[in-house]
Amino acid sequence: MTHIHNTQDRPQKHPTEHPTETPFKHSKVRVDLGPRSYDIIIGDDTLRRAGMLIKPHLNAPRIAVITDENVMALHGQTLKKAFETEQIEAHFIVRPEGESQKNFTPLQEILDHLLALSFDRKDTVIAFGGGVIGDLTGFAASIFKRGCQFIQIPTTLLAQVDSSVGGKTAINTRHGKNLIGAFYQPKAVLADISVLSTLPERELKAGYAEVLKYGLLGDADFFEWLEDNGDKVLKGKSVATAYAVSLSCQTKARIVAEDEFENGRRALLNLGHTFGHALELEAGYGGDLLHGEAVSAGMLMAFEYSAAQGLCAEADAKRLAQHLTKMKMCRPQDIPHLFKNPETLLSHMGQDKKNEGGALTLILAKSIGNAFVQKAVSSATILEYLTQVSMTIRHD
Ligand code: NAD
Ligand code: GLY
Repeated sequence: MTHIHNTQDRPQKHPTEHPTETPFKHSKVRVDLGPRSYDIIIGDDTLRRAGMLIKPHLNAPRIAVITDENVMALHGQTLKKAFETEQIEAHFIVRPEGESQKNFTPLQEILDHLLALSFDRKDTVIAFGGGVIGDLTGFAASIFKRGCQFIQIPTTLLAQVDSSVGGKTAINTRHGKNLIGAFYQPKAVLADISVLSTLPERELKAGYAEVLKYGLLGDADFFEWLEDNGDKVLKGKSVATAYAVSLSCQTKARIVAEDEFENGRRALLNLGHTFGHALELEAGYGGDLLHGEAVSAGMLMAFEYSAAQGLCAEADAKRLAQHLTKMKMCRPQDIPHLFKNPETLLSHMGQDKKNEGGALTLILAKSIGNAFVQKAVSSATILEYLTQVSMTIRHD
């Protein structure tokens, strides 16, 4: 078995001047990728200032904003006004909400719409929504006339801390998640914390799973901070939320800058995702299980499996389980119906993009704050673990 160890990201102590109590200032995080570098602007009024913030990136004062019905209804007018103020001609393309949009038909409809608007490669497409809109729009931008530029305006916690940053774009197929896509970086990311105040609690928790991921994979102190402040982060629009978004973006920007195309270290960002993607495929993509919920359960599975293999202490897996329970996050026992057939879950895991030569690659843990990539994981031990989970939890 080959290991790619996580030797960097040493936990830096989180401020003693408590970031839940000091006033939140706007922050800017640079994603350093040479000619593809860009800034993530995090603030509590970036939506209102979006016209002014994106104008320097536009080749022409004409944009297409791709969004979903929920986001349009809640925040569309603020964005429209921001563009009007700066005399930017904005065409809104409003899609239904939900994971099922990450598919060939919606992709084709968006591309047709852009062609009908006579958009060209110099025009800019804006992804205004959660990770679904971001992934779909980014992929559309990557193939529209061989690539037009795009900007991310993420409106869910998950999208602000993860999916809008780093340039992974994709749609799903019946074979699994994110199997058709491209690495395609945005020109800028504008994250407005204030839009999180309209996000349903279930969606906030789904996003929180990806926040927790950064602590679990490389920053034990951040995990500890989240154990104390997770409830404040989940308030949606708080200083703690802004701090968590900013720190998550810094961690992600650092990892992506080191390994943009995931030849090694970036795979750590997939902690919990191989288990999670299998659960999502098993659930179908109809909203029964959110991506972040699958990641939450998947991260616990990665820790439990690591503990079962003697790679990490049982106590660490238990500590994570306790935090997930306290935060009422998704754990395997909350979704027993998805564990009825361990062989099927194992076969879903076989579709993961990280796998090589038919063998599973997993992100496992040595401890909280120290994840690593393990190649050539034995399918038999995974099946044994999945069977044990399946037998322990009740299927009603
Ligand atoms: P989502 O885009 O489906 O949004 C969740 C729900 O929240 C939707 O119903 C949406 O309409 C609604 N919503 C969005 N903003 C809102 C707001 N401010 N107020 C109220 N409602 C709002 O889901 P998501 O969790 O943001 O993203 C999940 C997707 O992201 C998955 O497809 C996953 O694969 C992908 N993802 C991609 C990456 C990447 O690196 N590209 C990383 C993580 C996840
Ligand atoms: N969300 C995992 C990555 O961007 O690599």
